[in-house]
Amino acid sequence: MRLTDMHTYSVLPDDINPLCVPRHVAVIMDGNGRWANQRGLPRIAGHRQGARVLKDLLCCCKDWGIGALTAYAFSTENWRRPTTEVDFLMVLFEKMLKKELMAMHKEGVRVRFIGDLSALSPALQREMSRAVEETANNTAIDFNVAVNYGSRSEIATACQQIAQKVEKGDMAASDVTEHTIAEHLYTRGSDPDLLIRTSGEQRLSNFLLWQLAYTEMVFTNAFWPDFDRAQFHQTLLTYQARDRRFGNAKDAISLQKAEEKTALTA
Ligand code: FPP
Repeated sequence: MRLTDMHTYSVLPDDINPLCVPRHVAVIMDGNGRWANQRGLPRIAGHRQGARVLKDLLCCCKDWGIGALTAYAFSTENWRRPTTEVDFLMVLFEKMLKKELMAMHKEGVRVRFIGDLSALSPALQREMSRAVEETANNTAIDFNVAVNYGSRSEIATACQQIAQKVEKGDMAASDVTEHTIAEHLYTRGSDPDLLIRTSGEQRLSNFLLWQLAYTEMVFTNAFWPDFDRAQFHQTLLTYQARDRRFGNAKDAISLQKAEEKTALTA
C-alpha cells in the first residue's frame, strides 16, 4: 500500500453508511503462497506481507468504527504444511506480538486468541498470555486471532463441557439452548456480520461454522497480501448492498421497522 492510499482511507469513506458498518468482521487470509509464487519469492515472503496487511486492516477497522476483527491465522489442518513453513509462521506470530504489542495497546486494541493454544511452544503461549492480559481492559476494538483453530473441534469441546455440567447435575439437559452452546465457544456469543475470504476460494475451511450462521460472506479474487484499504472499502460497499433478513421476510422487516419508528415517536 502506498502512503497516499493510507491517507485517503484514514477516515470512513463518504459512500459507506456509518450506521450500517459491520460490528464484527472475520477474515480468511488466503493466497499468501500464490502471491509469493507470482513474484518468484518463497512462500514465507507471502506470509510476511500478509501479516503487514493484517496489521493495516486492524488499524483501518478501528479507524472506521468496526468493533471486532477475527483473523484465521493458523488452522488445525495447517500443521500438515512443510515444517519450515510451520516454523516460520510460529516465529512470525511471536515476533509480531513482541513488536506490535505496545502499539496495539496504545491504540486501545483488546487482543484475544481462539483455538487450542496448548499445542504451541511455551514461548509463544507466554507472549500470547502477556498480550491478552495487558490489553484486557482496552475498548477501541477486539482483535481475535485464530491459531490452531478448528471449528468442529471447538463445537465438540463445547459439547463436552456442557455434558460435564449436566453429568455433575449443574444443569438439566433440557436447559441446553443455542445460547448455552454459543457461550461455550471461544467467541462467547460474538458472531461476525461479515466474512471475507481472499484468493478466489469459496469455502469456510472449518472456520467459525456455528458463528457464521447469518453472516454475509464476500469472496474476492485478490490474494491476501494485496488486500488493502481500497479492497476493504469495495467489500464494505458489497456488504452494505446486501439485504440482511435473518430468515425474516423483506416485507415483515419493513413493517417491523415502521412499527418500531411509530413506537419511538408515539
Ligand atoms: C493462507 O494462505 C495463509 C495462512 C495459512 C497463514 C496466514 C497468516 C498470516 C497472514 C500471518 C498473520 C500474522 C499474525 C501475526 C497473526 P496460503 O499459504 O494457503 O496461500 P496459498 O493458498 O496461495 O498457498
